[in-house]
Amino acid sequence: MVEMQAKKRILTGDRPTGSLHLGHYFGTLQNRVKLQNEGYETYIIIADYQVLTDRLETEEIKENIYNLIYGYMSVGLDPEKSTFFVQSHVPQLAELTQVLSMLVSMNRVGRNPTVKEEIKTMGLESNVSLGMFSYPVSQAADILLFQANFVPVGEDQLPHIELTKEIARRFNSLYGNVFTIPDAMLSDFPRLVGLDGSQKMSKSRGNAIFLNDSPEEVKAKVMRAKTDSGSTIKYDKKNKPYLTALIDLYSLVSGLNRFDIEEKFPDVGYKVFKESLADEINKFLDPIREKRASIKQSYVEEVANEGTKRAREYGEKTMQAVREAMKMDYGLK
Ligand code: TRP
Repeated sequence: MVEMQAKKRILTGDRPTGSLHLGHYFGTLQNRVKLQNEGYETYIIIADYQVLTDRLETEEIKENIYNLIYGYMSVGLDPEKSTFFVQSHVPQLAELTQVLSMLVSMNRVGRNPTVKEEIKTMGLESNVSLGMFSYPVSQAADILLFQANFVPVGEDQLPHIELTKEIARRFNSLYGNVFTIPDAMLSDFPRLVGLDGSQKMSKSRGNAIFLNDSPEEVKAKVMRAKTDSGSTIKYDKKNKPYLTALIDLYSLVSGLNRFDIEEKFPDVGYKVFKESLADEINKFLDPIREKRASIKQSYVEEVANEGTKRAREYGEKTMQAVREAMKMDYGLK
């Protein structure tokens, strides 16, 4: 008989800081849906405490959490197959963070290029909170509590996964084999350039098309997008970087390659090309919009509750194993 192979588990997540946009879609969401449908057991953490690393305003977090879940479901992540859960409501994550923080030195945590970069970008150099400094340890707990085999992330997250592996190995060798050693699963999708052409698409840069933008908003944004001088539709990274970024976007939403696109627009100028691009983006977003409109708020709340409950139950199992391995289960009820 053929041995049934146990399902591999993936864990990944997002900070609830705003709506999902096309950069998220092509960068990670599409890949998550694919992995889910290939049969990976999928856990997605909505890392609300991690938001506090660089801002202390909390007014928008709740709305952003529900927006994320709407977004996940509208692109095809299925709550029957995937578990979405909210970090702050899984206390076992905080417990595990406490334990893990003893297994790593301040020096080691301080050597994290991604955190250094974030501190620099936010201008926090002179006033870094302990939580900001050490959030990769909390992220290690996010991953290890769920015994994830793989963590699908972008390149900027690799230092966190490396740290996670080190801490997990340390625990396992000190107290016994409790933790699965996870591996990063780098997605090979390119970072989507924003409508201003020069940087990555992101909310804070004001250059993003959101999955829940209306057709009119999409059109207005595309028509405003930066282009180069000249008028021919030519894929040319060096001399027409802005137009080329738009052709890449055209390609992603339409499925046409760049040669098809160049051929489709002989001597028509940028305006006609941009109008067509807006149409293609809207065609691409339509099913996502429809799906979103069909989901009731009460269902989203139920999904958040159920997922978080499942995460707590799983997390408690891991914490029991941790306490046992550490001989810190004292028979207390
Ligand atoms: N740090 C991730 C980000 O900013 C979000 C995140 C939190 C995460 N916990 C995680 C990602 C665990 C992967 C695994 O995008």
